[in-house]
Amino acid sequence: MTLPEGVRRHDFDGETALATRGPPAYGEPTDGEWRRWDPRRSKLGAMLERGVETGLEGGETVLYLGAAAGTTVGHVADFAGPTYAVEFAARPTRDLLSVADDRGNLFPLLKDARKPETYAHVVEPVDVVVQDVATRGQARVALANRRFLRDDGRLLLSVKARSEDVTGDPEAVFDEAVETLSEEYEIRERRRLEPFHDDHLGVVAAPR
Ligand SMILES: C[S@@+](CC[C@H](N)C(=O)[O-])C[C@H]1O[C@@H](n2cnc3c(N)ncnc32)[C@H](O)[C@@H]1O
Repeated sequence: MTLPEGVRRHDFDGETALATRGPPAYGEPTDGEWRRWDPRRSKLGAMLERGVETGLEGGETVLYLGAAAGTTVGHVADFAGPTYAVEFAARPTRDLLSVADDRGNLFPLLKDARKPETYAHVVEPVDVVVQDVATRGQARVALANRRFLRDDGRLLLSVKARSEDVTGDPEAVFDEAVETLSEEYEIRERRRLEPFHDDHLGVVAAPR
């Protein structure tokens, strides 16, 4: 598995961890310009840590759905090109805005990812959609945002089983989500994100 350009394993006080280069954002350990990317706080970080072939090379245009306070999308903006960050909850958005203040390529959008028509006038075609919304209908959100992906682009999706069905068998939930996704995406890889995130599936998919 190759890490994108701009992401590397870096030594922090004798411990090697994923890192990107950029202004600190949430009190994470830093060493010079490098700041630690904790896979326990990031599904995309966990995908990289688990060795998933994300296809990320660095410099891509990204649409990130479910940005929350900007923990992961801040790391993404450190190695990517223009990065559009969609989040619909007002509460975490203040922190997201301050992460964006330090990054000229990060564009927060206070929008609902289930309504892509409300940001279609702002978002250009992207190389990568990263999605971590952790709400019911996660696969449907990915289908709705397919329109932004270039034909040779990639979807990097995290599915939280309990957001779909609190009591159901996670594998059954994942199978259903992947089946729904298959309407418009070809699945390249699926990988559970334990031990970093319980009952989460990481999916790499390409538009059909
Ligand atoms: C698990 S958190 C995301 C954490 C974040 N990706 C990170 O790693 O830093 C899920 C976020 O998705 C947001 N979300 C859920 N449904 C959404 C929707 N339909 N549109 C936009 N944001 C949504 C939630 O408000 C929440 O902040």
